[in-house]
Amino acid sequence: MRMKKKKHGPERRALLSALTTENILALYENKEKIYGNNNPLRIEIGCGKGDFVCGKSKKEPNYNYLAIEKIADVSTLATENYARDRGLGDLAANGGWQTPDGKIYPLGEVVDFGDLDLGNVRFTVGDAKELLPTLPDNCCDAIYVNFCDPWPKKGHTKRRLTYIEFLKMYSRLLTPDGKFYFKTDNRPLFDFSLEEVEKAPFTLEYHTFDLHSSEMDAENIRTEYERNFSAKGFSINMLIGKNNK
Ligand SMILES: C[S@@+](CC[C@H](N)C(=O)[O-])C[C@H]1O[C@@H](n2cnc3c(N)ncnc32)[C@H](O)[C@@H]1O
Repeated sequence: MRMKKKKHGPERRALLSALTTENILALYENKEKIYGNNNPLRIEIGCGKGDFVCGKSKKEPNYNYLAIEKIADVSTLATENYARDRGLGDLAANGGWQTPDGKIYPLGEVVDFGDLDLGNVRFTVGDAKELLPTLPDNCCDAIYVNFCDPWPKKGHTKRRLTYIEFLKMYSRLLTPDGKFYFKTDNRPLFDFSLEEVEKAPFTLEYHTFDLHSSEMDAENIRTEYERNFSAKGFSINMLIGKNNK
């Protein structure tokens, strides 16, 4: 995702630090305290501006969600969108954050949400390739990758988030009956991913080359990229891999 560098990005991010983590292992180890319950964890890799995780976390609220995004400013927008959507306030005219009681926290401060319910999503900035290995086996019950970079050049195969080594890592992190969900408009990447899933410790539970015409669309949450590509006439591919370790 391309984005012009945001003014005051780090300060904006710091304002909402109640909704973010810099250490996902600590988040996992303290999840009961942080999320306020012991529900299973789900992970989205490359959450962009957060449409999917916001929608999913409301539609399936009995889970906790961790949204990973490698571009800090994009993750900040996702966190702000989530906070707004959850009734936790909005950006203030001075660039700070205004909580629902009208109090304005300027840039440089950290918002105190008091007794407000922070909901079931937390955001982190970083490359999934470096962050995910820090988590223990069987830590989550679903992993979502939506419209990741296709890395079309042959020399970049290993960077694709559906490359076998990533899939093996997802299998390790997922509970034995956990699932990997993948969507893309990019057919060559999808064909590659189907082949990788066959090689990986996953059983291909479902796949479609046209999600929006399939029976699965009723429960589908469209992401920003999904809406854009679909509007341009691309059909959307989806697969679900069931852990088989
Ligand atoms: C094409 S965008 C799609 C955003 C969103 N998932 C959607 O469907 O609208 C891919 C996003 O994944 C992020 N991303 C790519 N590789 C990543 C990685 N290894 N770890 C974390 N985020 C990554 C990018 O920064 C970008 O924001």
